[in-house]
Amino acid sequence: MMNLKEEILKLKEKLDVTIVAHFYQKDEVFELADINGDSLELAKRAMAAKSKYILFCGVGFMGESVKVLSPEKTVVMPRIACCAMAKMIDVDYFDENLAILNKAGIQNDDILPITYINSSAAVKAAVGEMGGYVCTSSNAFAIIKRGLESGKKIFFVPDRCLGQNFANDIGLKSAVIGINTIEEVKDADIICYNGFCSVHQLFTVEDIEFYREKYPDILIAVHPECDPSIVALADFSGSTSQLIKYITELPADQKVAVGTEYNMVNRLRPNNTYVLSSTKPECPTMNETTVQDVYDTLKAIENGNIINEIKVDDKVSKYAKIALERMFEV
Ligand code: 13P
Ligand code: SF4
Repeated sequence: MMNLKEEILKLKEKLDVTIVAHFYQKDEVFELADINGDSLELAKRAMAAKSKYILFCGVGFMGESVKVLSPEKTVVMPRIACCAMAKMIDVDYFDENLAILNKAGIQNDDILPITYINSSAAVKAAVGEMGGYVCTSSNAFAIIKRGLESGKKIFFVPDRCLGQNFANDIGLKSAVIGINTIEEVKDADIICYNGFCSVHQLFTVEDIEFYREKYPDILIAVHPECDPSIVALADFSGSTSQLIKYITELPADQKVAVGTEYNMVNRLRPNNTYVLSSTKPECPTMNETTVQDVYDTLKAIENGNIINEIKVDDKVSKYAKIALERMFEV
């Protein structure tokens, strides 16, 4: 009898399906994919794929982005798992935060919103309607710089850490609504929404001190979703793809401790690579997808009874696409 993996490979050929998987997926799911990548690469490469169906192993906002960019494709997800950070903001919260800024004397005409790609299509659409951009951790630096050319204040949602870390990099002032005082918010160049990634919050100053004491020559590399206090102590900070490049190009005997998702760190490099935590920092929702789910989703396509199809409202899609395309232009 064929095993599940062989059945999946056969079904995807027969049904004209491209399987796409983010680096944070479990190894056994990651290995099934035609396309692997970080969120930016996956959005671009899934859009360029020629197949009728995209089977997306990741979190909901990623599948939504593919659907917005390629509405002619049928996008299905083995699990419609939601990124915990993306869940921290919806359009009502976005509007409430704008109202706080308006009350502080900063009008919408003076605000340029930028949303991290980890947000719903509806939030991307609200940002797009205001003339704003989407960004990922790979291109946030360039997008924020472009945004600043408008002379407006940047309202960065939903990840406060990414906003704070890039403001620190550029030498600008940031403030977080709900954490900083309203005077500090008024004075900031980059105003951040108070969202965060629960996985990247797990890395602590004590973890860095532990590894530096144990291996004095070790390098520390982290994702910019980590708290600014962690990024400040690290030797390198970069997006998923930037971390992969940095770590895989290190000399084989160079030790490195990495502050990002567990599955990805574990497959990066055979030796001298450590997860920068005494916990197991897996992304719980990324880890929901199983090989069985992939098989069941393919079988549903074969039976003409599609499950977990991603659909996006036409108006939301129109403005979310504008915000995503502005990102690609930069
Ligand atoms: P990347 O854009 O680096 O793929 O990150 C997505 C993400 O969810 C990181 O936690
Ligand atoms: Fe979202 Fe954090 Fe998981 Fe990335 S690691 S998908 S930001 S919860």
